[in-house]
Amino acid sequence: MEVNVTINGAARTAEVEARTLLVDFIRTNLSLTGTHIGCDTTSCGVCTVLLDGTPVKSCTMFAFQADGHEIQTVEGLKNGELHPIQAAFKEEHGLQCGFCTPGMMLVGKALLEENLNPTDDEVRWAISGNLCRCTGYMNIVKAIQTAGAELSAAESGATA
Ligand code: FES
Ligand code: FES
Repeated sequence: MEVNVTINGAARTAEVEARTLLVDFIRTNLSLTGTHIGCDTTSCGVCTVLLDGTPVKSCTMFAFQADGHEIQTVEGLKNGELHPIQAAFKEEHGLQCGFCTPGMMLVGKALLEENLNPTDDEVRWAISGNLCRCTGYMNIVKAIQTAGAELSAAESGATA
């Protein structure tokens, strides 16, 4: 079957089998390998992408379910320069091996779209579906809050 999506702002189409998972469509058909596969069973969150702005685990959806929708992957964050969430993960040492990082950043971005000043608990709740095996969570929480502060300062600067 044919699946049409807008991914990171570009219209893309591919022929897939009905059983193709969204994560395989993104990685294999669209060659966007920044979206990772870990557990393949909805537990680890490394396959998280934004579907119409909402975090989804792309190993838990069929590709055809995304037909006609807008997807953002980690490749869509950088726009010339690092997105504030990428810069904050770098600055706050929010990653080590980086395997969980694309999913963590996209979940963080979605949270900050609702709330630029989340508490520790709010960040921890937002990332509760995402596992990190190496960094520990403190710096990830700090990175998301730092990105929120950056975005908030940029917004105040723009409206001043
Ligand atoms: S690979 Fe999708 S949740 Fe682990
Ligand atoms: S940085 Fe290695 S799994 Fe999170």
